Amino acid sequence: MDTAVRVVVVPGVFRPRSDSWMLTESVGDPPPRPGAEVLDLCTGSGVVAIAAARLGARATAVDVSRRSVLTVRLNARLNGVAGRVRAVRGDLFSSLGDRTFDLIASNPPYVPSGDSSLPERGPSRAWEAGPDGRAVIDRICAEAPERLRPGGRLLLVHSSLSGTDATLERLAAAGLDARVARRERGPLGPLMLARAEELERRGVLPPGRREEEIVVIEGRHGQL
Ligand SMILES: C[S@@+](CC[C@H](N)C(=O)[O-])C[C@H]1O[C@@H](n2cnc3c(N)ncnc32)[C@H](O)[C@@H]1O
Repeated sequence: MDTAVRVVVVPGVFRPRSDSWMLTESVGDPPPRPGAEVLDLCTGSGVVAIAAARLGARATAVDVSRRSVLTVRLNARLNGVAGRVRAVRGDLFSSLGDRTFDLIASNPPYVPSGDSSLPERGPSRAWEAGPDGRAVIDRICAEAPERLRPGGRLLLVHSSLSGTDATLERLAAAGLDARVARRERGPLGPLMLARAEELERRGVLPPGRREEEIVVIEGRHGQL
């Protein structure tokens, strides 16, 4: 089935970028079985949840931003999948009770910042992720494995500058078989580029490098 998703975004909601589309494609490869329960964590416009719903899954889309939740509902209607997408406001898993999922997909904030405190409001909540870029990633690595059903999988996208090996190690330590499912090398995105010198000073970016890899990391219960 066609996974092409068209989304509108209101000011303050993250507009899907190349990492969003990488994650969306990975969600469809292989497609979730019809009726599978998919969680799109840090959903923004809802693009990943809507792609999953268009493939026949039942999607839950979570974001800490009220504007995002309203945008997901609008985009689900525009894409004809309002009946299969539930938008929920919350901090990661906090609003989900004890629900478990067949697939959890996330494009979380992952840009390393000079400040260890995360923004509490505004558009920068979509990317600021603490000094090593892992403030949200590490929480997902710790909490997602127990939210996966047997045979379920986690798909997490981030920059290599935020620690590919650290994610693989944490998921393995939590009992998942983890691997890089997809990687794309390219020039630093605008947010990383704007702080490249600071990242060099802090040792996050090797001197002179202006490239990063965007990786989709897959973690599964059971053998890959
Ligand atoms: C990089 S954007 C990704 C949006 C969308 N998934 C995409 O790929 O286009 C990250 C999103 O995470 C949300 N977010 C940040 N911290 C969060 C948290 N603790 N819990 C839930 N959502 C969070 C932001 O509001 C933002 O919408």
